[in-house]
Amino acid sequence: MIKAILFDVDGVIFDSEKYIQQAYYNYYKVFYGKEIDYNDLLPYVGTGEAVSIRGLGESLHLAWDVERDKAGIYAEYDRLIQGVLKPMPGVRRFIDNARRAGLKLALATSADRTKLNSSMMATGLEPELFDSIVSGDMVVRTKPDGAIYRYAAGTLALPNDQCLVIEDALSGHIAAKNAGSPGLGVTGSFEEEKLILSGADLVIRDLSAFPSFSDAQQFNDIFESMCLEFRGRTVPGKLLDAASKVIENSYSPYSHFPVGAALLTQNGGIYSGCNVENSSFGGTICAERGAAMTALGAGGKTEFTALAVVSDSEEPAPPCAICRQFLSEFAGPDMQIYLLSRTSGKFRHMNFGSIMPFTFELKSLN
Ligand code: THU
Repeated sequence: MIKAILFDVDGVIFDSEKYIQQAYYNYYKVFYGKEIDYNDLLPYVGTGEAVSIRGLGESLHLAWDVERDKAGIYAEYDRLIQGVLKPMPGVRRFIDNARRAGLKLALATSADRTKLNSSMMATGLEPELFDSIVSGDMVVRTKPDGAIYRYAAGTLALPNDQCLVIEDALSGHIAAKNAGSPGLGVTGSFEEEKLILSGADLVIRDLSAFPSFSDAQQFNDIFESMCLEFRGRTVPGKLLDAASKVIENSYSPYSHFPVGAALLTQNGGIYSGCNVENSSFGGTICAERGAAMTALGAGGKTEFTALAVVSDSEEPAPPCAICRQFLSEFAGPDMQIYLLSRTSGKFRHMNFGSIMPFTFELKSLN
């Protein structure tokens, strides 16, 4: 049950991405004599100024200084937005609906409070609409670390799985999943499939595409049915279909616990596998490793970007620790994991990093 909304700010609440990009461009041109373009900035969208200034400074070999550059960029941003910055479509109605429904609302931006204040002043959006406001200057690790969303949920005294994160940035969806929150993605900054593979559970154009609601139950019903429909026609649905098909081939006469798994590879291939047991029980091979062997045998070394596992237990089964270690050779912390129970219909979505945080690697021998 979702009881709160944690909003990212830039690209979700305000149509501000193009102005901050212009502010970066103007500042770097005037101060450093360097012309940067959108692609230089893309990796830093959503991460906050400290990360972008350091990243740009390193790659362009500048004598960068976070505090000085940030002050310059924010001053330019404030100048650029006067009279032109607007709330994103549907934002005001969504916020009003959410308040009427009794949902708690928080803002969680990687940017500093200075920039948020500028945007609120320029658009007339009142800070009082929100139960709490967390900005990048209040956390040590900004997005994609989960800290800001854990902190924001903490200010509302709610666990993250009851706080829906609304995000336009890949770094923001990774942060949401790292914190254990469901994610609603809006396009505009990044395309749908990239948002999904960063952790979004549902992607819409902007908040005007979310229907009106008047109470928390109605909000949850709408969100759940939109997620179900969305999942069915996108990457997780394709993987779950493949896993649901292959579970039929499970050879599990000893445990009577059939499992089906499907993996998505970096180049878009889908490979599936089922568990195959042995009367010498230790010879059993899990569905996840079966799927991985098929993928690796077919295409050679690859990176897995998503995994679906289908089982029959009331709670959908996660990959066992042996499979986690096996997969860690070919998957990073952002691999999406979708778990489904065929019998109860229960579904869970998390990222690999949250269930495999401290992987063994043979680094110590090198
Ligand atoms: N199993 C899997 O296929 N994947 C897992 O991650 C957990 C366990 C299988 C192995 C065995 O055939 C049965 O489930 C019961 O342990």
